[in-house]
Amino acid sequence: MEAGSDYASGTKFRAVVTDFKKPTIAELELREIQDDELLIKVHSTPVHFADQGYCRGLYGNKEDLPPPPSGVGFEGAGEIVKVGANIDSSLVGRKAAFTNSFTDEGYQGTFRQYIYLPHSRVIVYPEGCTTDYDVLSCAVANPLTICGFIDYCQKNGHTSVIHDAASGACGKLFLKACKKFGIKLINLVRKDEQVTMLNEMGADVTLNYSSEEFPGQLTEAINEHKPTAYFTALAGEVAAYVFGQMDRFTTLYIYGMLSMENISLEPKNILFKSQRVESFWLTVWLSSLTKEEVEKWNKTILDDISKDEGTFSTPIGKIFKLEEVLDAMRHARKSGSEGKTILRAQE
Ligand SMILES: NC(=O)c1ccc[n+]([C@@H]2O[C@H](COP(=O)([O-])OP(=O)(O)OC[C@H]3O[C@@H](n4cnc5c(N)ncnc54)[C@H](OP(=O)(O)O)[C@@H]3O)[C@@H](O)[C@H]2O)c1
Repeated sequence: MEAGSDYASGTKFRAVVTDFKKPTIAELELREIQDDELLIKVHSTPVHFADQGYCRGLYGNKEDLPPPPSGVGFEGAGEIVKVGANIDSSLVGRKAAFTNSFTDEGYQGTFRQYIYLPHSRVIVYPEGCTTDYDVLSCAVANPLTICGFIDYCQKNGHTSVIHDAASGACGKLFLKACKKFGIKLINLVRKDEQVTMLNEMGADVTLNYSSEEFPGQLTEAINEHKPTAYFTALAGEVAAYVFGQMDRFTTLYIYGMLSMENISLEPKNILFKSQRVESFWLTVWLSSLTKEEVEKWNKTILDDISKDEGTFSTPIGKIFKLEEVLDAMRHARKSGSEGKTILRAQE
C-alpha cells in the first residue's frame, strides 16, 4: 500500500492464494467498503496444520471448497483502518483479532495485507491493549478450541483427561487451562525434551509414547488418575492404543488428524466397555452454543489475552514474510513444539 493512502479503491496489495495444489502470491486491489464491513490492515497470521491441508485441497469437505484460486488462512490480527457506514467509527485504530472460514460467504483468507470482514467475525481489543499482533493473531481458533474442551469436560463431568500432541500450541494452552479449571491432565508427547518442557510448565503427568516404558507408564497413570476422556489431535495408531487401555464409559474426542492414519478400534471395547467416539470441531461446537455462551467464552479469552502471559496466550515461534509462505509451512510442519509459526503480512 502506498504511503498516505486513504485505502481508496484500486490500491494494490498482496495476498496468498491457492489452486488447491500449492500456495502462490497474488496482487489484489482494495474495493469500496460495504456498510456493514470493517477493513483491517492485517499484521500477523498463524500458520496452522489446517492451512497447509487447505492449500492442497485436503482440509474440509471437497464440496464446501470455493472455486480456485482461493484465499488461504483462517485467522489473524491487525488494525481496523476503515469502517462502513453502519459501523461505529470510533473502532478505527483499534487492534482486532479475526476469523475467516472457507465456509463463510465471501471467504477471502487471512494470509493477505488487507481484509474486509463483518463485525461478527472481528473481536475488537480494548484501547491501549499492549498484547502484540503475533499473539493476538492466535487468539481465536486454538483458545476457543480449548474453551470447547473445557465446556465438554464441564458438561460431561470429565475431571481427568488425556491429551496427545501435547507439546504443540493447543497442548500448551490446554495444560494452562486445565490448571485454571481444576482438571487433571495426562499429556502425551513423542520426545523426551517435550516431557521436560511440559514438566517445566507445571504439567501433572507427561508421557513419551515413543519410549519403551510407555505401556507400563500409561497403565499406571490410568489407574492413578482414572481419566474419562481423551482428546486426540493425532488419531491413528497411538490414539487407538491409548483408548484401548482406558476404562469403561470413557470417550474419545477426535479433533485432529496429525498422524494422517486411520484409527482402528476394537468393537468389543465399544460394545462391552461402552466406550464412545465423538468429534470435536470448533465450528460445530460454536454453532451448538447460544449467543450468550459464545460471548461469554469470547470475553474469557479477550480478558485473558489482554494481560501478558495469559492462559490463552500462544507461545510464538519463527516469523516469516507473506512471500515466504511455502518455507513457513515447511517450518510449521516440523517445529510445532517450538511455538506457532507466524506470517507478518506487512513486512
Ligand atoms: N477440531 C478443531 O476444531 C481444531 C481446532 C484447533 C486445532 N485443531 C487441530 O489440532 C491440531 C494441533 O494444533 P496445534 O495448533 O496445537 O498444532 P501445532 O502447534 O503445530 O502442534 C502440533 C504438535 O503435534 C506434534 N505431533 C506429533 N505427531 C505429529 C505428526 N505426525 N505430525 C505433526 N505434528 C505432530 C508436534 O510435535 P513435534 O514438535 O514433535 O513435531 C507438535 O507438538 C492440528 O491438527 C489442528 O488442525 C483442530
